[in-house]
Amino acid sequence: MRIEPAAAVVGHIGVPGDKSISHRGVLIGAVCEGEIRIEGFGRSGDTESTVHAMRALGADVEDDVDVLSVGGLGLRGLQEPAEPIDCGNAGTLLKLLMGLLSGQEGEFVLSGDESLRGRPVEDLAEALRAMGARIETSDGKPPVRIEGAELRAAEHRLERASAQTKSALLLAGMQAGGGRTVVHEPYFTRDHTETMLRAAGAPVRRSGRSVSISQVESLRLDTVQVPGDISSAAPFLAASTLVPGSGLSIHGVGVNPFRAGLLDVLVRMGARISIFDRRRAGGEAVADLESRSAALIATTVRKAEVPRMIDELPLFALAGGMARGESLVRGAAQLREKETDRIETVTNVLRSLGVRITASEDGFRVRGVPTRPKGGGAVSSGGDHRIAMLAAVAGLASREGVELQDPESVAVSFPGFFDLLESVIQR
Ligand code: S3P
Repeated sequence: MRIEPAAAVVGHIGVPGDKSISHRGVLIGAVCEGEIRIEGFGRSGDTESTVHAMRALGADVEDDVDVLSVGGLGLRGLQEPAEPIDCGNAGTLLKLLMGLLSGQEGEFVLSGDESLRGRPVEDLAEALRAMGARIETSDGKPPVRIEGAELRAAEHRLERASAQTKSALLLAGMQAGGGRTVVHEPYFTRDHTETMLRAAGAPVRRSGRSVSISQVESLRLDTVQVPGDISSAAPFLAASTLVPGSGLSIHGVGVNPFRAGLLDVLVRMGARISIFDRRRAGGEAVADLESRSAALIATTVRKAEVPRMIDELPLFALAGGMARGESLVRGAAQLREKETDRIETVTNVLRSLGVRITASEDGFRVRGVPTRPKGGGAVSSGGDHRIAMLAAVAGLASREGVELQDPESVAVSFPGFFDLLESVIQR
């Protein structure tokens, strides 16, 4: 697919429902009592994997445009499937299921596509074993084999900030006897699991960077309202900031403070992003965003900011490449364990388009030049949806455009990405 340089990015849009919250709605909904409606469900390759997985575990999931209804099976109601569960490309599904299934009755095998089968899960497996889980990995990676067990509460100190790991431990902790399961986080990460479990009646408590849960009898949720995904809004915010003459409104975006790090960092760089009509929906912060083009100055992303914008760091690298001065990300080694090694893929793609970026062990350094990068090359996303969207935005902001070899990978999180992008581009 050829992406030509844009003269401006202009319009009013909405983006699909938040992927993290959509996954959690189906996973948690399936162990609630009665029926749960998920409004604004974000339909994508990853969330379809979650729907298939929960159907394989016995849940009745009905589809109706962007409302999904899940027939909850109760806390102990998931059933052993006949076949291994295919988690596709979805790391969130795999890890949250590891926690959820550890306390269920039966045997479960979790696998996924080639990228997922390359992602380390041993640390999580080990933490779950400390709670009595019977769980085996394949040399530290999926496929993962789980034999449901009686779980006991435990205290966990995470070395690396990970919402997926924290969530898996809480989903195990709600099934564990013997007190509270506590997770201490080195830095704050997204708290969608805690918010949803609390709404379902679970005794979740937070004290600073520690969150805890004790065994629950039952969970009940009526409706989950899913806000627009800030990670899907992010390419549009970046494009409208970086392409001169742009002005774009994005309606109904989730601005949970543990997700909205990119907004803070871009504004610190000089971006003209305004936040209107802050409101709450389903316990989550939501707002309308308006973004206009701006000249940027470089910044350093602080370690505590990394988890708050983990999936947006590729776009930050591009913004840094067009900002005056040197921008830096450190303390983000977990980028190497995403759908691709994103320190390598971001560096390779942006460098081939003329951005002066160098990789380090746990981040990257960008020497920004406040002008459009040259572009002109052909790039591959390596099957990584976030890298495909990064390449598209880089192409729009460049002088010569870009040839994206595998645009279809965007469907993992945002199937309609290119149509929506086309609708706001002026040439
Ligand atoms: C996610 C958490 C993040 C993020 C992923 C979705 C979640 O991973 O990269 O895309 O839904 O909990 P970690 O917090 O585990 O790094």
